[in-house]
Amino acid sequence: MEDKIAQLKEMIADSDNIVFFGGAGVSTESGIPDFRSVDGLYNQKWKYPPETILSRSFFERDPAEYYRFHREKLVIDGVKPNRAHLRLAQLEQEGKLKAVITQNIDGLHQAAGSKNVLELHGSILRAYCSRCRKPYPAEIINKGSGVPRCSCGGVIRPDIVLYEEPLDNDIVRSAISYIRNADILIIGGTSLNVYPAAGLINYYRGKKLVLINLSETPYDSYADLIIHEKIGEVFSRV
Ligand code: OAD
Repeated sequence: MEDKIAQLKEMIADSDNIVFFGGAGVSTESGIPDFRSVDGLYNQKWKYPPETILSRSFFERDPAEYYRFHREKLVIDGVKPNRAHLRLAQLEQEGKLKAVITQNIDGLHQAAGSKNVLELHGSILRAYCSRCRKPYPAEIINKGSGVPRCSCGGVIRPDIVLYEEPLDNDIVRSAISYIRNADILIIGGTSLNVYPAAGLINYYRGKKLVLINLSETPYDSYADLIIHEKIGEVFSRV
């Protein structure tokens, strides 16, 4: 572990073109459960599997049940950025990190001070009417009960990418460009199981692919440096 931390520290010191690609594991140390770990959302008991609840067709069919899940499982009061979010924001400020590309919808990178955050799956901190697209403050979906409705009668929805929905083209294009041109690509806290997001890392052409994840991933054999440790802990030491 010490060797690997020293290696990562040196790589970071030598680069001013680092890109970070992350997922739910980046926020577990802030108290937000991930999806696929044993205590993750997908292993908790719900009437339907979370992949089903988090899908477009389910949202349209049963928005009340969707919002029950959303408010109980996706919205967690009082969460704060952890050492991984904070160090990444600092690296951007130091001119070393070009972009954070995240699958997370919790807004914690921005809360930590990161400016260039590409949210592949959107954010629960934004909402809009599914009929007329009028924007709404997040409180309207994250607090209270029942199905929030727009003055036009449409259902107000979170600005997140549900299963069965495509990613935003501009965000994907921008993510590909950062990854393709990166000197170092650091991937962290993601099982790399969900496509198309996970597939974006295939655009990396460099020889400094760093993977920081508690468990193994399908991409471990491609990494130049693998650290199977808690990401907050790792970032607090580099
Ligand atoms: P997963 O839950 O699939 O993977 C999280 C990974 O982070 C796991 O491999 C854990 O081992 C690891 N992990 C957990 N805590 C960690 C820590 N402190 N340090 C390092 N690693 C840690 O989450 P994602 O890969 O983000 O999509 O899942 C991708 C997408 O699946 C999500 O964006 C969401 C979900 O369905 C949508 O909702 C569209």
